[in-house]
Amino acid sequence: MFPQIMNFLGQADYVNKYVDQFPAADGYRSPEASYWFPEQASSMAKNVDFLYMAIFWVSTVFFLVIVGVMCYFVIKYRRRPGIGPQPSSSHNTTIEILWSVLPSIILVWFFYQGAWDYLDSKFPPDDAEEIVVTGKKWDWTFTYPDGDQASELHLVLDRPTKLIMRSEDVLHSFFVPAFRQKMDVVPGRYTYYYVKPIKDGIFRVFCTEYCGDNHSGMKTWCHVHKNDAVRKAKTEWINADHKAWENGERLFKLNCAGCHNINGVAATGPALNTIWGTDESLIDGSKVKVDENYVSESIKYPNAKVVAGYGPVSKMQTFEGKLSNQDIDFLIAYMKHLKQPGSGDAVGGAAPAAAAPAAAEPKQESAPVTQEPAAEQPAAGAGSGG
Ligand code: CUA
Repeated sequence: MFPQIMNFLGQADYVNKYVDQFPAADGYRSPEASYWFPEQASSMAKNVDFLYMAIFWVSTVFFLVIVGVMCYFVIKYRRRPGIGPQPSSSHNTTIEILWSVLPSIILVWFFYQGAWDYLDSKFPPDDAEEIVVTGKKWDWTFTYPDGDQASELHLVLDRPTKLIMRSEDVLHSFFVPAFRQKMDVVPGRYTYYYVKPIKDGIFRVFCTEYCGDNHSGMKTWCHVHKNDAVRKAKTEWINADHKAWENGERLFKLNCAGCHNINGVAATGPALNTIWGTDESLIDGSKVKVDENYVSESIKYPNAKVVAGYGPVSKMQTFEGKLSNQDIDFLIAYMKHLKQPGSGDAVGGAAPAAAAPAAAEPKQESAPVTQEPAAEQPAAGAGSGG
């Protein structure tokens, strides 16, 4: 009875009616809406639910035991005429240690399990498909590797996917309940999570950070398709003629090629074909990983983190307001494309060849950056010896 009442309150009919619009012949399953958990549609969902239920039952058991004993004591030791108050016992070491250590062990296990699951969502495999999720007041846009865009998220079953998120305006939060994964979508920076859909179907997408008038209307659908062909057939994407990196290449030639080479040779600025994912040394001696946030920041604020050898003041002008965030997404896709083996084309012949062994063998003489691992070795030896 309870689930039925809650389903009625939760507008299950509304959801199911929407999902029914998609004919079963397309291979879609209709997810049953209910008050309790939605189905487990990502590889992460089982772990999250397990931890949730573990916390729920541990809390329930402790609540019943503590409140039960409390009620028993209240009745047993209630004040009665003719019986004076008992002197309270001062200390019982055994009990104190027990009720400190046991809950601590359980709490540490909760933390361990939660942290482990969180890290799982932070380390996608290298071949994960990358989809850019853009939140703005008040809708979502999804940009696919081939440059297509859609207002609904289309994933492929069992395909590891990295959802890279950014906001056009204010703080949003991207949440697919069936995946049990949620991430803030923050203006001025990129965030991401890794998801592997394990069920095909249609799942709700919500914004879960209050972002203004129509926050509650900032929702869309996530389709998990059985394969690429079904995904293509079901979408009406714009910009289908160009891949994201091809758009990036065009923008690169228009805006960046005057100062940046893609053949591994430094010019006014560093060469851009080999640096994606590496650690660059800065003029202040620190290092920065060349990722979405660093590239985006450097395009908008060239002087924020100047690479060693190109300072103290960068010669680069700011592209803030000249390149849109979308443009920057394309440029990032281009940099990633350049880093792939075999994509260096005619101009990149020498540089990628030099970069490949560098990745395989850290001890390369020509790279001053790789001094660190050598310095660590004596410490490691001393540690194992002592
Ligand atoms: Cu976007 Cu709430």
